[in-house]
Amino acid sequence: MASLPPSVPATHAAIAITALGKPVEQVTVPTIPPSAGEVLVRVTHTSSTPVDLHRVAGGLRVPPEDGGKAFILGITVGGTVVAVGPGTATGLRVGDRVFGFVQDGSDREAAFQEYATVPAWKLGRVPDRVDMHAAVAVPANLVTAVHTVVADLGLPLPWPVPGAEVAAAAADDDDKEEEVVLVWGAASSVGMYVLQVLRHWGYRHVLAVAAGKHHETLRGLGARACFDYREGDAAGAVAAYLDRVVRRSSSSRPGRPRLPYVVDCIGSREGSLRPLTRIAEKGTRVAVMLPVINVHAGKDRAAELEMDVNKALPGEWKDGVELRGVRTFLYHKNEFLRDHLQPEIVPALLEQGVIEPNKQRVVEGKTLLERAQKALDLLRDQAVSGEKLVWRVAD
Ligand SMILES: NC(=O)c1ccc[n+]([C@@H]2O[C@H](COP(=O)([O-])OP(=O)(O)OC[C@H]3O[C@@H](n4cnc5c(N)ncnc54)[C@H](OP(=O)(O)O)[C@@H]3O)[C@@H](O)[C@H]2O)c1
Repeated sequence: MASLPPSVPATHAAIAITALGKPVEQVTVPTIPPSAGEVLVRVTHTSSTPVDLHRVAGGLRVPPEDGGKAFILGITVGGTVVAVGPGTATGLRVGDRVFGFVQDGSDREAAFQEYATVPAWKLGRVPDRVDMHAAVAVPANLVTAVHTVVADLGLPLPWPVPGAEVAAAAADDDDKEEEVVLVWGAASSVGMYVLQVLRHWGYRHVLAVAAGKHHETLRGLGARACFDYREGDAAGAVAAYLDRVVRRSSSSRPGRPRLPYVVDCIGSREGSLRPLTRIAEKGTRVAVMLPVINVHAGKDRAAELEMDVNKALPGEWKDGVELRGVRTFLYHKNEFLRDHLQPEIVPALLEQGVIEPNKQRVVEGKTLLERAQKALDLLRDQAVSGEKLVWRVAD
């Protein structure tokens, strides 16, 4: 029978939705001893993500009120291991600094609580060179980037990454270096990791759509050409680029679309999907971050969200465009990724400096609740640009 170490309190503070449509609250919840396969983490740091807002202001997948059960928020834990479940096969030890992408709404592992009881396969050790604020900027959306490329674009990301000679020998006629991948919303947290993942695995013809102020940074992360969606017609500019630059190379690969892959990191019906209907062509695979945002949340306005990507703009896509709705919470269905992505690959990519954490904006506040609410307000006000909101959980 698992038990708590003496130094760990039987209850602790958490930030949760207690009623749909109401502000989040601080609640007191039991600390759950780790069972076999689990690790108990004292959560010192976390980061906020639009999914928090989708839950709070859009009720996304928050079960209807069921006797006041709290839905604990938070999908990124960062902290210190305080106990390892009996018989747990993991390289993690008490005292290790760890980080991981976890499931919100779970009493055990959700991140906006002072102690989280997390499956060991959802955690990695934070490399010494990385501080905790930077660490919590990484797991959720680096996992998203890898999962999207593998599961939704269908592009393999072999691990370990093959050396240059092996890669060259394995290259087939579809030279991946020249495969065009368009990343719409490249300055989002997801987008910046997608760029870095594609760069590391050898994709060289990556196009980025983002505000002009980010273009230099995005080129540094691997974008070959950048387009500004805030100034002028980004979709038109991408289409002109395809006409000008890609027409020639695609003629050597008859039947292939000029733009085989798109990652829509935003999933906004009007802001990203509608312009993409103008560029995607027969055979283009478009991976869309769910939910589709039909209406963004406002101070006095609930969000309107849609989890079926095929219901977004039906009839407006060209025949043969393949829409894929990205669902990263299911990444563990790929057994290799479940076993290796968070324990091994994410820490290694950071350790090697292959992936740089998103720039961080530290959200300050006197209390846990104040920090959580401030971060939600920033997300609601769309005040997050090229950065990740990070904050302290337990002091
Ligand atoms: N389904 C899944 O598995 C999954 C996983 C992860 C994330 N998501 C979803 O993906 C979305 C992005 O998440 P995130 O954490 O990356 O968000 P984020 O970093 O908070 O996004 C903010 C960025 O969005 C960009 N942006 C906003 N509207 C845009 C538009 N119309 N075109 C281009 N860029 C636009 C802004 O770019 P500029 O600064 O350039 O203006 C800003 O930098 C969220 O809705 C999230 O819930 C889904």
